[in-house]
Amino acid sequence: MDSELSKQIEKLREEINYHDNLYYVLNKPKISDYEYDTLFNKLKELEAAHPELITTDSPTQRVSGKPIKSFNQIKHNTPMLSIDNTYNPEQLRGFDQRVRKQLKDEEIEYVVELKIDGLAISLTYQDSVLTQAATRGDGETGDDVTNNVRTIKSIPLRLNSKKMPPKFLEVRGEVYMPKKSFASLNQLRAEAGESLFANPRNAAAGSLKLLDPRITASRNLSFFAYSTAETIEDSQSHYQSLKRLKDFGLPINPHTEKVSDIEKVIEICNSWQTQRYELDYQIDGMVVKVNSFAQQEKLGTTARSPRWCISFKFPAEQATTVVESIDVQVGKTGALTPVANFKPVKLAGTVVKRASLHNFDEIRRLDVRVGDTVVIEKAGEIIPQVVRVVKDKRNIFTQEFEIPTKCPSCGGDVIKDQDEVSLRCNNDNCPAKLKEKLIYFVARNQMDIENLGPAVIGQLVDKGLVKNFADIYKLTLFDIINLDRIAQKSAENILEAIEKSKKRPLWRLICALGIRHVGAQNAEVLSNALGSLEAIMNATVEELEEIEQIGPIIAQSIVSFFNLEKNRKMIKEMLECGVTPTIEKKKHSDLLKDKVIVVTGTLENFTRESIKQIIKENGGKPSSSVSKKTDFVIAGKKAGSKLEKAKALGVKVVTEEEFENMINESTNISED
Ligand code: IVH
Repeated sequence: MDSELSKQIEKLREEINYHDNLYYVLNKPKISDYEYDTLFNKLKELEAAHPELITTDSPTQRVSGKPIKSFNQIKHNTPMLSIDNTYNPEQLRGFDQRVRKQLKDEEIEYVVELKIDGLAISLTYQDSVLTQAATRGDGETGDDVTNNVRTIKSIPLRLNSKKMPPKFLEVRGEVYMPKKSFASLNQLRAEAGESLFANPRNAAAGSLKLLDPRITASRNLSFFAYSTAETIEDSQSHYQSLKRLKDFGLPINPHTEKVSDIEKVIEICNSWQTQRYELDYQIDGMVVKVNSFAQQEKLGTTARSPRWCISFKFPAEQATTVVESIDVQVGKTGALTPVANFKPVKLAGTVVKRASLHNFDEIRRLDVRVGDTVVIEKAGEIIPQVVRVVKDKRNIFTQEFEIPTKCPSCGGDVIKDQDEVSLRCNNDNCPAKLKEKLIYFVARNQMDIENLGPAVIGQLVDKGLVKNFADIYKLTLFDIINLDRIAQKSAENILEAIEKSKKRPLWRLICALGIRHVGAQNAEVLSNALGSLEAIMNATVEELEEIEQIGPIIAQSIVSFFNLEKNRKMIKEMLECGVTPTIEKKKHSDLLKDKVIVVTGTLENFTRESIKQIIKENGGKPSSSVSKKTDFVIAGKKAGSKLEKAKALGVKVVTEEEFENMINESTNISED
């Protein structure tokens, strides 16, 4: 029976791996998301019922491992070299001449590849299973980022063994963050008041160096393999070797070309210089490699870089334009953001008209003034920013930008928070602030109220119909039809969307409230840990801090928000209007049904909150004091008086590990 089951599980895994490869690597999915989810859930179900059959390379185990304190160091068996750079066709021809001279006019083929702007990573596969992932580090030693790399869906946890990969394979390639993911990550960070990543490369590096793999998993990283540490036995050339890697299930960049003439190489490099903006990911140049391994060997390497490989770096694309005006926008937290409006200029594939100047310190640092000529570029080819002012072109009559002392929208006082660079409007009733809060509240990632766009929100606020989030749920058809340029049908659609939003998941609602430092990620953590709106509203700073990922600043911000009477009243009103956030339910087991359990001492693998949650999920009742009614005590390290008392009363004591085993054996704790 068990071997039948193992076979079934194995077959499901193979099927899922096959579809993962089609979807994440080859970009050619064959089945619908629904069909895929069905396969995946079936596997999860079988594994939950038979945890002894779970293997680390199962597709369900991508996010595994707990947050760690620091990364272990890994020494690379073969050093990870860097590449020499060239910046123009002449230098590429120089490279070609050096190669030809050393190879005494043998015939040469070059492989031309995109130079992906991410970070180099080394993946070790043993018997086809991904066993280790390390960053390049200084080329000799890197960080062990295995648990984080496992969350990257385009990296197979197991190679396609039908294609007979070698017993030991070290693959090298680039981990990157697609441009769109970079833009939305920065947007979320901005909304949560966190610092922004300067470009996708920093974002990818930052995401791989997180100590908690669960956060890395949410960062949507991807990967392209570009070489192996040792040559694969049956391949004679780099191109053949890439083909083999592709067969094993690794993602190879599709824009890889084999040519025999340096002029053709130059042509390809030039064409990507403009075409690069159409890619989903950022490239910072091209890489040219001598194809034949025999020739690579003859050419050898210097201490730093191989002589058979060169990069062609694109210049960071910049444009010059004139600042026509500087506006100050008021965000949902009241933060004032200066924005420069330019004479429209073409840059990296689009026409740029404006760029955020971030804050007033930045204005002073750059000394940007209206009328200035400025150099601009795009961070991650997406977000335009001012690099510097061309001072030689400054008109002597320009004036320093005046930092506002009043809110440009409501005229309210402006304050500067301690430890923060931004200025804020201090008026709780500032209409600009309210409009931004509402725009965020109704957005797709929050309450998803379609059609209730900024223009409608603007009118609702100006007419005094909406003064807070709850007022949205009190709107009538009459209220909406009476706005300018709203037809009956769209008013009905708006009401329908409002109605639908009442059933959004709890974490979406928590996120929509716009509590400082609580973006989607933290909202989800809160919702999972505390399970109800009421529990989140009533949690103390100490209770919140016990939740992993929730630090003191976030905890304080949450408590301050819910301590405000007007916020509690607004939430009460929303609930009265029928808002009932859905909770994604967990499957419960009866393992600990009605058992009264006390936790004491320091635990290794749980926070207090998470262990209580697990006790509850399995039907138990966490309690804080030991008595005769206590069924058992879970004692961590340095347990004191409670443990003593349990022993004195003859109450059963289990270690943290015993408790974990107990739960794992019954594992029914999986998502519905
Ligand atoms: S080959 C010894 N190929 O560029 C040569 N590198 O500036 C090993 N990179 O550290 C690297 N795309 O992180 C190679 N198609 C590509 C690449 C690539 C991006 C990165 C890699 C390397 C850096 C060198």
